[in-house]
Amino acid sequence: MAVTVSTKNMKRSPFFYVGDKFKLLPQLKANFPKEIKRFIEPFCGGGSVFLNVDADSYLLNDIDKNMICLHKFLLAYSNEPNIFWSEVERLIISYNLSATFMGRLVPQGLRKQFVKTYFAKYNKEAYHRMRADYNANHNPFLLYLLMIYGFNRFLRFNSNGEFNLPVGNVDFNQRVVNALNEYFERVQGKQIEFFNLDFQEFLEIIRPTAGDLVYLDPPYLITFSEYNKLWNEESEMRLIDSLDQLNARKVRFAVSNILWHRTRYNGVFNRWAQQYNIVNIQSNYISFHDNTAKDSIEVLVKNF
Ligand SMILES: C[S@@+](CC[C@H](N)C(=O)[O-])C[C@H]1O[C@@H](n2cnc3c(N)ncnc32)[C@H](O)[C@@H]1O
Repeated sequence: MAVTVSTKNMKRSPFFYVGDKFKLLPQLKANFPKEIKRFIEPFCGGGSVFLNVDADSYLLNDIDKNMICLHKFLLAYSNEPNIFWSEVERLIISYNLSATFMGRLVPQGLRKQFVKTYFAKYNKEAYHRMRADYNANHNPFLLYLLMIYGFNRFLRFNSNGEFNLPVGNVDFNQRVVNALNEYFERVQGKQIEFFNLDFQEFLEIIRPTAGDLVYLDPPYLITFSEYNKLWNEESEMRLIDSLDQLNARKVRFAVSNILWHRTRYNGVFNRWAQQYNIVNIQSNYISFHDNTAKDSIEVLVKNF
């Protein structure tokens, strides 16, 4: 079957979340129903999926409280983006950060001296001051800037709850500006509610019904990433159980997962999935030109 891979009309989330679903959106959307009353995402992460789905309203959840705090913050500014932008620009100037979109460029000499790392070299000291200020005052503007200028654009905290990501070799560029403006446009006037709960508690509270679509992109049991640390076999069983309950109540669900990854195989999920529709997804890991090069199998399992 031919697979649509163009992301031309898709919105990039301003979280630039590692492992987001941006590249797979055309394939996922092709498998979603046309009419959706409430679009429900128990693992919304950076939001790349909900930003690209049309529904009457949205119920979005993630266990990461800082991620949800930033979503709520951006949602609140969607009606007054000018205020958002003037505060961002004021902070960039006051910390003396580089910002390509404002024409604040790293000096030529430093760019020549540190060809591959000049953003990090230039912004490091300002970044550390901003990080110390954020840890003292929890200003969400600073948290967003720390993420954008930070290593791999992660949100990472130590066990004392202090933000501890080092500076990244990146800067606030036009791509970030475009993604933020698209986010504001996309959420403006929409009925959107964010939650910060474990997925099961979230589903119990909101009680999905027929007409809704629950899309789930949980951490994958057999791959490795920052948020997978929180996920284990017990979580996977709770997930499967919740999905069966949705099915019993005639609620449509679609769940992403990885069945094989290198030498690892998710037998529990694979056996469970056989009773539903399993759609193969051409994922980031798979070479489009050489089938033998694939070392992961990604699927979307749906009950409709
Ligand atoms: C694969 S990521 C989702 C990425 C998202 N689809 C995107 O495009 O940005 C999985 C998410 O699940 C969240 N998570 C992990 N355990 C959870 C739990 N028990 N309940 C709710 N969310 C959880 C993580 O914080 C992470 O953001």
